[in-house]
Amino acid sequence: MSFKGWRVLVVGRNLAPLAIAALAEAAIEVVDPDRSETLGGLSSPADLVLIDAESGPVGLLQTFIDSLTAQTNQPAALLVGQTLPAALVRAIFRLGRSDVMESPFAVADLLRAAGSLLMEAEVDGPAKSSSVCWSVTGAVGGAGATTIAVEMAANLAARLSGKGGPGGRVALVDLNLADGAAHAYLGAHAAMHLAEASASPERIDASLLDAFASKVSSGLDLLACPRDPAAFTKVAPRAVTRLLEVACQAYDFVIIDLPRHRQSWSLDVISGSDELVVVSELTVPALIAARSLASELEAELPDGPRPRIVLNRLASRVFGPAPSLAEAERALQRKADGGITSDWEAAAASANLGGSIGQHRPKSKIVRDIDGLVSRLTAARVGVRAA
Ligand SMILES: Nc1ncnc2c1ncn2[C@@H]1O[C@H](COP(=O)(O)OP(=O)(O)OP(=O)(O)O)[C@@H](O)[C@H]1O
Ligand SMILES: [Mg+2]
Repeated sequence: MSFKGWRVLVVGRNLAPLAIAALAEAAIEVVDPDRSETLGGLSSPADLVLIDAESGPVGLLQTFIDSLTAQTNQPAALLVGQTLPAALVRAIFRLGRSDVMESPFAVADLLRAAGSLLMEAEVDGPAKSSSVCWSVTGAVGGAGATTIAVEMAANLAARLSGKGGPGGRVALVDLNLADGAAHAYLGAHAAMHLAEASASPERIDASLLDAFASKVSSGLDLLACPRDPAAFTKVAPRAVTRLLEVACQAYDFVIIDLPRHRQSWSLDVISGSDELVVVSELTVPALIAARSLASELEAELPDGPRPRIVLNRLASRVFGPAPSLAEAERALQRKADGGITSDWEAAAASANLGGSIGQHRPKSKIVRDIDGLVSRLTAARVGVRAA
């Protein structure tokens, strides 16, 4: 089976290399009880938890496993180790879907055990309560934020809903409330009447969200407002945050096309996002704007996502005095997190036909570069948090 779209939590850093080798396509997070005082407060829900019985004190691991049992969306769990303390075995079998495995074992054994545990979960699909939210914004106007948000959303939907994928739903939310372009790029209907819903934001629920959503493709919905020049003054900040809360419950991935100009709700949206992509061009003014925006956000939201700068419309052969990547990174005073090749024909043709570049020009380098970016952002969820 494919592990794309599944979230795996690995407890014990010694187990990490095997887990990454066996479940490469999953979003893997590693925590190390030996290095952290406690496993309590682990917020990120997982579909599968792999626990190394030798990674920490039995009491600590047992409390952690008991906390999994208490969760509404119980994950599957696999306990491994050379010696498996009875207390931990008893605790793990209290979970609905669990197994134990003696070390040493091979990558193939782990693959089989994890596969059969997740297969049981696949009946229900990945838990929805913990969707992943990525925001995309431009450093300057016209940098390509909407194009990149559309392509990332379409790429994720294809990964989840394509052949062999785990299934799952993706929403592209266009927060350019007055004159968003995502619906025009996708040839889709803009049906999100958020101004009307602003009178009582708490009434925004799953069924209203359904009415707001337009289906773009299997697995991808668009939430976008019809054109209204006064929308930014009409829509209450609470309506925006409520909409996103409900969307995060209904979808596995929420991709936000975030307006470049700061709104009263912008910082709330960014701090609630798992990733923030700042799209820039390879021109000096755009690079300076990207650097300023990234530094402002880092100062204002020290606990927010680290802005990731993506350079768009990179020419394969550079004509004229465009900065090199090294010069760009000097101007940015940081590394760029990705680059998207320029392909005007593919971008224009897809926008004119209505649909993603991945759909109309699947061989475009834009599609390849977006795929790489999405893979890197998904893999970025791998990290040793307690290190
Ligand atoms: N990699 C690319 N290669 C060629 N053309 C591109 C690329 N990315 C975006 N474009 C084109 O650049 C133009 C601006 O893109 P887009 O609308 O995505 O930018 P934006 O940052 O969302 O703009 P705005 O500030 O108006 O919201 C569009 O015509 C789009 O087709
Ligand atoms: Mg845009």
